[in-house]
Amino acid sequence: MKRTHGDGQNRSYTLQILVVFTAALAVLSGCRGEGVQSMLDPAGPAAAEISKLWWFMLITGSIVLVITLGLLAAALLRRPRGEEAGPPLGSGRFVVLGGLIGPGIILVVLLILTLRTTISLRTPETTLTIQVIGHRWWWEVRYPEHDIVTANEIHIPNGVPIQLELISADVVHSIWIPRLHGKMDLMPDHATRLWIQSDEPGTYWAQCAEYCGIQHAFMRLSVTAHTEDAFAQWLEDAARPAGAPSTERQQQGLDVFLRACAHCHAISGTAARGRIGPDLTHLSQRLTIGAGRLPNNRGNLYGWISDPQPLKPGNLMPPSLLPSEELEAVVEYLMTLE
Ligand code: CUA
Repeated sequence: MKRTHGDGQNRSYTLQILVVFTAALAVLSGCRGEGVQSMLDPAGPAAAEISKLWWFMLITGSIVLVITLGLLAAALLRRPRGEEAGPPLGSGRFVVLGGLIGPGIILVVLLILTLRTTISLRTPETTLTIQVIGHRWWWEVRYPEHDIVTANEIHIPNGVPIQLELISADVVHSIWIPRLHGKMDLMPDHATRLWIQSDEPGTYWAQCAEYCGIQHAFMRLSVTAHTEDAFAQWLEDAARPAGAPSTERQQQGLDVFLRACAHCHAISGTAARGRIGPDLTHLSQRLTIGAGRLPNNRGNLYGWISDPQPLKPGNLMPPSLLPSEELEAVVEYLMTLE
């Protein structure tokens, strides 16, 4: 009995496929982050619906893949055709059942479940609308009913549906808060909508999910869900204009800011009204600077204002070229913006 060398090759191919499949499963199983940006860890009703559908699709897809790979392995491991060829594996009925009717039923079931999920994601009655404007590469966040403008942070009351009204100031972006909802594009020419609701107070990280240029990865934002009382307090604090400088040094910082930075940035309660960059009214309360690029602290703020280009190349903010004494005064003043 003669075996062709193709036989051994087929076995090694089968082995390779199984190894790759097992490795892929092992890697993917590590994707479930603990409380990080993971749609597998839903924290709101919309994300929960999407995640249920995702699990169903993964399980169905895995079963189909295992069956298909099994058939492939069976075909590869068979003796080569020749005098010793066995009876054919497939038949007309097998092809119709396994290739047409089976996949047809699976696709129809998936279609029905997808439509069901889509219907369940319709926007419920909301009481608060927040405008989110995508910029390269940061997020402008406005509360039109409360006269609040902030950046790279959305604050919401926990447990109630909130409407986000989305638009872009330049190219197409996409907002993705994986633990609260799926992705939604922000387009320059017409507004889109997305509603979010959280189950628990806490901070949910989000990300631009549509490639929008070299700093796409540093277009992050946070969504903080507050208890009802804490949110009322947040609204009150955020609507307040910035406090006046209380020392000479802070006053010098404000003067330098008005001269050097106010063309692009606004600080409510001062003459700074720029709209090109983020509103900085309550800057020191923010978690990050540069839309998730750095934790917000004095040292990072100093480095950022001095020259943000090495930190986030291509962003619109030029190096400040301020003498260090003036730079320090600006940072001193900005740190007071609570
Ligand atoms: Cu904005 Cu990617």
